[in-house]
Amino acid sequence: MKALKERIMRDGKCFEGGILKVDSFINHQMDPILMKSMAVEFVRRFASTKINKVMTIEASGIAPAIMVGYLLELPVVFAKKKKPSTMENMLTTTVYSFTKDRTYDVCVSKDYLCPGDRVLFIDDFLANGNAAKGIIDLVRKAGAELVGMGFLIEKSFQHGGDYLREQGIHVESLAIIESLDNCQIKIKE
Ligand code: G4P
Ligand code: NA
Ligand code: NA
Repeated sequence: MKALKERIMRDGKCFEGGILKVDSFINHQMDPILMKSMAVEFVRRFASTKINKVMTIEASGIAPAIMVGYLLELPVVFAKKKKPSTMENMLTTTVYSFTKDRTYDVCVSKDYLCPGDRVLFIDDFLANGNAAKGIIDLVRKAGAELVGMGFLIEKSFQHGGDYLREQGIHVESLAIIESLDNCQIKIKE
């Protein structure tokens, strides 16, 4: 997606360990106009897919997911990273964070992720795909169906996308970063 790629080249910042900071328009300050354009693009790319629920994982996935849910007029459910003591009916899974080198639990209530749901997952970044794997597990445990996964930014050098596509999942990424070597942002044309 042209507008996102141009914005990454203009405002994205490269950090050690293959991290791309997009704090000025996605992860800290947000650009709602760009966010809306990205959601419109997801709606276009998943137009032939039957969806009844949009899903994401807190925190950074919520903004793009709710834009998509708004356009599709569908509920948006976000998986939580900490198990609230008051929530019954919880499905949980464990995610390994490569960036933080630790595991964390992710959970969702069976009240909001149900058997037969056709789920479109939306998130900001796809790196190694560990968060995505956790979502796959939660959707499976719920007896729902994962019909697509959309990411604002995929870092193809970390191969989470390869794994998801090998599983036969319909993956759409609006910008694919091929390399951040030498702090140079290389985006797939
Ligand atoms: P993975 O899920 O693809 O395996 O990625 P990983 O464990 O490496 O990433 C963990 C967190 O770091 C995720 O956010 C993910 O969105 C974010 N992340 C990964 N690579 C980048 C990057 O290059 N730039 C930025 N800005 N974020 C990246 P999270 O910890 O779950 O937190 P939240 O921000 O969604 O709350
Ligand atoms: Na995220
Ligand atoms: Na993040």
